[in-house]
Amino acid sequence: MDKVTTQAHAHKEVAAAHKHAQSASAKAVTGSERVDPRERLIVALDFPSADKAMELVERLDGCCRWFKVGMELYYAAGNRVIEGLRERGYEVFLDLKLHDIPNTVAGAVRSVAGVGASLLTVHAGGGEPMMKAAVQAASTPGAPKLLAVTVLTSMDAAELRAVGVGAAHSSAANALHAQVLRLARLARAAGIEGLVCSAEEVEAVRAAVGPEAQLVVPGIRPAGAAGRRDDQRRVASATEAIARGASMLVVGRPIADAAHPAKVAAGILAEIAGVE
Ligand code: C5P
Repeated sequence: MDKVTTQAHAHKEVAAAHKHAQSASAKAVTGSERVDPRERLIVALDFPSADKAMELVERLDGCCRWFKVGMELYYAAGNRVIEGLRERGYEVFLDLKLHDIPNTVAGAVRSVAGVGASLLTVHAGGGEPMMKAAVQAASTPGAPKLLAVTVLTSMDAAELRAVGVGAAHSSAANALHAQVLRLARLARAAGIEGLVCSAEEVEAVRAAVGPEAQLVVPGIRPAGAAGRRDDQRRVASATEAIARGASMLVVGRPIADAAHPAKVAAGILAEIAGVE
C-alpha cells in the first residue's frame, strides 16, 4: 500500500467525523453570510507529489476544510490525490484554469466532472462561448461548480498592458480594473457566477455582481508578512480581502513554507473571524 492509500485508511474515522460536520455546511461560501472561518480558507497544495501534499494536509488537520489542487499536483498525481482528500472529508478546489477552444474545454470539464472536486476554474479570457460550453459540460449531477478567473493576481497593470490589454486607457491601473470587471460580467453572462479576482478589485467586483456571488481571492499574505509577495503582484492581507467582500481566500506559500503551518493558518483564521 503506498503512502497516500495508507494514510487514507488511517483517516477513515476522522473523515467520517469531518464528513458529518461538513454535510451541514455550505458547499462553498458565496456572499458575506456568517460562517465558520474555516469555510472561507482554501489552502493551495502546490506540490510536485501527492506524498508532499499529504504531509501538509496532515499538519493542518482541523485547521481548514478546503484544499486547492492546481496544475502542478494534478499533473503529477491525478485523480488519486482528489480521492484521498475526499476520503479524509475535505472539499477540493480543482484549479486547472482551463483555457482552450470551447469543444476542448467542454471535454476537459467532462473528464474531471465526476472526480469529486467541488470547484473548478476556467479562464474568463477564453471568451463567452468557451465558458458557456464549460457550463453545459458541468451541468451533470455531482459536477464541480465553475469559477471564472479574471486577471491573474501575479499580473500588474504594466504586465497586462504588455500583453495588449488596455493600451488605449490613459492609466494602466484603470485598464486592469476595467478588464477584471469586464471579464466578471462576461463570465456571469455565460452562466458562471463564481469569480476569482485579487483583493485590489474585489470590492468593485462585489458591487458589480451583488452580495450572493462567490468571490475567491488568492494573493493573500498574512498580516505581518506584508513584505512577502513571491511572484504575486496584487496582494493583500486576509483582513483586507474579507473586509472588501471576498467570500473565500486562497493561501499557498505563506502556509506551505512556514515552519509551523497550522500556526500561520490559525492566524489567518483569526484575521477572518476578526472581520465578521
Ligand atoms: O503561494 P500563493 O499564496 O501565492 O498561492 C496562490 C495560489 O492561488 C496558487 O496556487 C495560484 O495558482 C492560485 N491563483 C492565483 N491567482 C489567480 C488564481 C489562482 O494566485 N488569479
